[in-house]
Amino acid sequence: MSFDGINAMSETVRALTAHGKGILAADESHGTIGRRFTAIGVENTPENRRRYRQLLFTTPGIADALGGVILFDETIRQQADDGTPFPKLLTALGIVPGIKVDAGAKPLAGAPGETVTEGLDGLRERLAEYRGLGARFAKWRAVIEIGEGRPSRYCLEVNAHALARYAALCQEAGIVPIVEPEVLMDGSHTIEQCFEATEATLDHVFRALRDHRIVLEAMLLKPNMVVSGAKCPRQAGVDEVAEATVRCLRRTVPAALPGVMFLSGGQSPERATQHLNAMNALPGPRPWVLSFSFARALQAPAMDTWRGSTAAVQAAQQAFLRRSRLVAAAREGRYTPAMEQAGAATGPARS
Ligand code: 13P
Repeated sequence: MSFDGINAMSETVRALTAHGKGILAADESHGTIGRRFTAIGVENTPENRRRYRQLLFTTPGIADALGGVILFDETIRQQADDGTPFPKLLTALGIVPGIKVDAGAKPLAGAPGETVTEGLDGLRERLAEYRGLGARFAKWRAVIEIGEGRPSRYCLEVNAHALARYAALCQEAGIVPIVEPEVLMDGSHTIEQCFEATEATLDHVFRALRDHRIVLEAMLLKPNMVVSGAKCPRQAGVDEVAEATVRCLRRTVPAALPGVMFLSGGQSPERATQHLNAMNALPGPRPWVLSFSFARALQAPAMDTWRGSTAAVQAAQQAFLRRSRLVAAAREGRYTPAMEQAGAATGPARS
């Protein structure tokens, strides 16, 4: 790959990992956003999805906490009330538009209970179109479950292979790939089992990325944190999660990678914020930025306040800004639980 091509993608990486900033994942598929809307009594229509995403993107001050936003295929083609296409609106704010390009996790043949993420066919052409629409980074999510005999080596290999093929096509198109292997929190497994599955997953992923000639400086990783299963009787504490997650990353993630942008994976907004903060407050050398690419942990308070009402848009934007600032503070290791009460009125510190 030419140095010019790498330099252009490195610019995107710098914007996404800038001081005090992270990524908003607003790329829920129609099915996923439908489940979230059902919970707040909102009908899942293209117009309601547009109104909701507009609420997020037009929140005053949000560019202080967000370097990028991941969009869905429908969203990248939608416009704000005044006719401005969403990617243009975000770019004008200094927020880099990104796009989810996978076609979802499908049952893996011959491996009951496991999935492989699809979407490679025609990806080169779709990436060219998304680039024309303004996207400068992309996301592909592999889903790994912990259970009896799972994850299998077969499942880890095929998902790592697909992630690497996706990443190669992105870099060919000058688009920064976010590589997302998510080990799910669902289940009664212990934090030790999550550690083992995450370590094996990341090992497979980075081996495949090397085989597929991925330039590590021009990509980002979006992993799960190492946590106890949601139904595990013993829930690991905040410091334990932070230490286990960073230890797991140190063993598996090359120093050339610029940033680790965690998913929240069903943790509460407060918990995800505490975990991110504790990791950034840990002593010791760390070659990569530890930041966020949250969907639920950033959006939950806003969605709960909005509930589809135009009259509640401003209050929902305040809730979104508030949580985004708290998470941005955690990304610097500057968050304290007292800030939850204080309203987090101040923005992230600038350097
Ligand atoms: P959560 O933060 O809700 O896990 O979503 C992040 C994401 O983009 C999952 O693909």
